[in-house]
Amino acid sequence: MNKPENLKYEEMYKLGTEPLSTEDCVSPELFEQERQKLFKRAWICVGREGDIPNAGDHLVRDLDVLQTSAIVVRGKDNQIRAFHNVCPHRLNKLVPEGEGNTRKFMCRFHGWTFDLDGALSHCSNKELFTNFDESKFSLPPIHADLWEGFIFINVAEQPKENLREWLGDLNDQFEGYWDEMELRGKWSAVVNCNWKLYVDANTEAYHAPTLHSRSLRDSFASPDNPNCAFNTVRLFGRHRIGSVYANPNYQPNPMEELTFKIAETPLYPATSATTGHLPPGVNPSRNPAWAFDVDVVFPNLQFGAANGWCLVFFYWPLSVNKTLFEACTYMYKPETPGDVISQEYTLAHVRDVLREDMSTLEGTQQMMESGVLKYIQLCDEEITVRHNHVSVANFIAEAD
Ligand code: FES
Ligand SMILES: [Fe+2]
Repeated sequence: MNKPENLKYEEMYKLGTEPLSTEDCVSPELFEQERQKLFKRAWICVGREGDIPNAGDHLVRDLDVLQTSAIVVRGKDNQIRAFHNVCPHRLNKLVPEGEGNTRKFMCRFHGWTFDLDGALSHCSNKELFTNFDESKFSLPPIHADLWEGFIFINVAEQPKENLREWLGDLNDQFEGYWDEMELRGKWSAVVNCNWKLYVDANTEAYHAPTLHSRSLRDSFASPDNPNCAFNTVRLFGRHRIGSVYANPNYQPNPMEELTFKIAETPLYPATSATTGHLPPGVNPSRNPAWAFDVDVVFPNLQFGAANGWCLVFFYWPLSVNKTLFEACTYMYKPETPGDVISQEYTLAHVRDVLREDMSTLEGTQQMMESGVLKYIQLCDEEITVRHNHVSVANFIAEAD
């Protein structure tokens, strides 16, 4: 029977073994605590450097959970900065939405104009203002930093930890992993469930043989490992990496067989194996019976890291029972027509699987809110679920 390596059971049980309360998925008060004490103090990923490759490229992120909208922009000096998306004159939302390229940001209300570094560069009829000091009306900055090409922001006035400290031992686990990958697919959905429920559903594999019985069971389970037990689970403080098993004796269906034959690098759902140069955080046990990893960068960023492709998920809480889910797929540049077909097959297959994952969420939220039962029961293979809820609760408790 497959058992997670690298995580001793005693260590796992330190997180508790008791049933877990549903309160943190249904209570508006606890959600408000998460907003104030967690999200407003956390380093939150808002995109990738490649989303804004050129000077003046910018994107707007409306962040309900932070009660603000942010502009993330690449300056003329190539530096990436973030600002609250507000004009300091009468507090109009400076850039209504979306992404684009600009030399300056001009407020469409009265024409105040800002440089890419946030400085006020033009104020219409400035003589109309009494004692006006232009230098005091820059865009309000947000702390921003980069890690492995991901852009993180922190809206705290003075973050307690810098991004390196926030990531801790996770820092060097993925060095260079995304360097050659490019964005190949992106979609989003608003789902009526708590954001943690969504993270939970996408970070354990105990459900794979059942919920994915048509799409995945034979590739993710085998007589040796019928429940798709993790190869490894590693906890990095508040972050986590679970390594998902793949059946080494999986028999591809005819479409997959054709795809794998013509592609240089067979992708999903073939086993990802260990070929190529993977950093230590990807398939950490170097187990050849490996599909991909489920990695959570606390609190709301997830990777599905495989060999040659990677899913990146953003979970954006909109309210206690509403979440905006964004899924991006990154892959290597295809080199042959076979690669293109293989990648397209992977994209379609992944989307189908993610729809299956999504299919339980609203029903679960609905029944949690009914209050008939107030606790969930977790097995050892759902350690990532427990770690999710315990990490959030601990962070909030420590913030008091
Ligand atoms: S609110 Fe922006 S210029 Fe007046
Ligand atoms: Fe799943």
